[in-house]
Amino acid sequence: MALFSREYGFDFGTMNSVIVEGSQVVVMEPTVGAVVVSENKMVEWGQAARDMLGRVSDSIEVVRPLQHGVLAEFHVAEQLVQEMVRKAGTSRLFPPRIAITAPYGVTSVERRAVEEVALTASREVYFITQPVAAALGIDLPIGTPSGNMVISLGGGTNQAAVLAMWDVVTGMTAKTGGLSFDEAIISYVRKKFGVIIGQPTAEKLKISIGAAISEDETKSMEVQGQDQVSGLPKPVLITTEDIVDALEQPLNDLVTLVRHVLEKTPPELISDIIDRGVALCGGGALLTGIDKYLTKALGIPAYLVDNPMTCTAEGAAKALTMRNVLKRSLIKV
Ligand SMILES: Nc1ncnc2c1ncn2[C@@H]1O[C@H](COP(=O)(O)OP(=O)(O)OP(=O)(O)O)[C@@H](O)[C@H]1O
Ligand SMILES: [Mg+2]
Repeated sequence: MALFSREYGFDFGTMNSVIVEGSQVVVMEPTVGAVVVSENKMVEWGQAARDMLGRVSDSIEVVRPLQHGVLAEFHVAEQLVQEMVRKAGTSRLFPPRIAITAPYGVTSVERRAVEEVALTASREVYFITQPVAAALGIDLPIGTPSGNMVISLGGGTNQAAVLAMWDVVTGMTAKTGGLSFDEAIISYVRKKFGVIIGQPTAEKLKISIGAAISEDETKSMEVQGQDQVSGLPKPVLITTEDIVDALEQPLNDLVTLVRHVLEKTPPELISDIIDRGVALCGGGALLTGIDKYLTKALGIPAYLVDNPMTCTAEGAAKALTMRNVLKRSLIKV
């Protein structure tokens, strides 16, 4: 164990949390805690807790302490952050320095809450907004006066931001993300087949056979649901086309969000973005064909980055080494 204080970039996400030390991912776990209700004590966390979702008795509550990227359950979040920091290799004697993220545009109260949680596990906390961290993690040249655009497709948020001079010039966060995509699939399957499926099944469909636009090769997958009328188990065969149809509305909403941001962006920066393209990150960027879909809908080339799930934490870690230039966007708590 290192006898010095460590430095972590900490992306505290609605679905997944990632800790990066230097350029190394040291923790990547679902942001989930399992709590014994009577004692309000966390007994499992991360993947082990996620595996318990929907499968435990009432005495244990499986909790996602963040909703839409914002703290909803302080006590669980606190225990979770402490466990994650411990897993990253920190000893209690030498608490780390942490750069923690939150979605663009959170209120000062929401920001304070996440900072408070981070403070319970560290000696020094910095705050950085997610689009800036993501851009740093993707190595976009945001220190220049030219425009760069990042779209972060998370589990609980979709964020679009234009960055220049180390900061967000225009940006917007929607409280819709991968979970809303899953809900759209659930509602489509109920309407079309009269079958009720759960969120984990909807997510599995989205990841395994889903796409944003029709593919030449369509896939299919049989899933188990519950007949809406009889309540009995019923298998149903879902195809890629079904998922494309189901996701039409949430994808439209995403395009509207990005358009709003572009409308508010100065024209000089827009022309830079047209030249450079729009970087897509977050787990939702892994949806098959979403780059092609957005390129067509926006008229600007959109591309998937190499590290969509880890760039925000990587950028937060990098930010700690750039404190002198990031004065406005890396804020000491
Ligand atoms: N191959 C894939 N296709 C489509 N969606 C995917 C794929 N892989 C992961 N996802 C989705 O990505 C989302 C999780 O992404 P990520 O870990 O970036 O979110 P987060 O950072 O926890 O959330 P947020 O940034 O909104 O707080 C989930 O909704 C998941 O279903
Ligand atoms: Mg995220």
